[in-house]
Amino acid sequence: ISLAAVVPAAGVGSRMGLNHPKQYLKIGEKTILEHTLIKLSKVEHINHIYVAVSEDDGYFDGLDLTELNTTRVSGGKERADSVLNALKSMQAHPPEWVLVHDAARPLVDIKDIEKLIVSCLGTGEGGILASKVKDTIKKGDMHIEETVPRDQLWQALTPQLFPYQALLSALDSALNEGAMITDEASAMERVGQPVALVSGRSDNIKITTPEDHALACFLMAQQQK
Ligand code: C5P
Repeated sequence: ISLAAVVPAAGVGSRMGLNHPKQYLKIGEKTILEHTLIKLSKVEHINHIYVAVSEDDGYFDGLDLTELNTTRVSGGKERADSVLNALKSMQAHPPEWVLVHDAARPLVDIKDIEKLIVSCLGTGEGGILASKVKDTIKKGDMHIEETVPRDQLWQALTPQLFPYQALLSALDSALNEGAMITDEASAMERVGQPVALVSGRSDNIKITTPEDHALACFLMAQQQK
């Protein structure tokens, strides 16, 4: 199958409070971004990885990514711009499928990625890894307005996998129309395309804050045992 991966890695990670982007924080010997790229490289179906990196990023070229089949592409203002730039860079040789995975999610289980790929390729439709919400969810501002029934609530994770052309046009139209989208699935939902929910491990966390980083160090050590 023809499947390329896109790793948006052009965020500044302001919530981490560092002077370098969070994907260059280390977990053990390697940076978060390297852990993520190594995981994706272990997935048999992924032919190539496009990494969207900010143009003034001085760290990426210093990583040792030999044998990982990666190409650096320019990131954009928002995450969706970064992903769209990566998709456009493949236009000369478009893959059939594109799998988008956050740089900041190095703990993803390879078996979950394979499960998502098998599920989407089987139906021909897009899908995302997601985990059922565990907490009781309240809606409100200063006080609780309501308790939202959680039986149908999922936390969206990555990877998110879609047919290449469908994702390209959905992202293009979302950005042209100024829609607020924080993941690829929301762009597909806007244009009425079906997106499957594929249950994935909830420890596939997005490292955003220093607490997440501490937890990720612990979880990575467990995985590598
Ligand atoms: O900021 P947040 O954690 O939601 O970002 C999710 C992913 O999107 C991160 O891997 C980040 O590097 C990436 N991103 C990007 N381009 C942007 C903003 C975020 O590639 N302009």
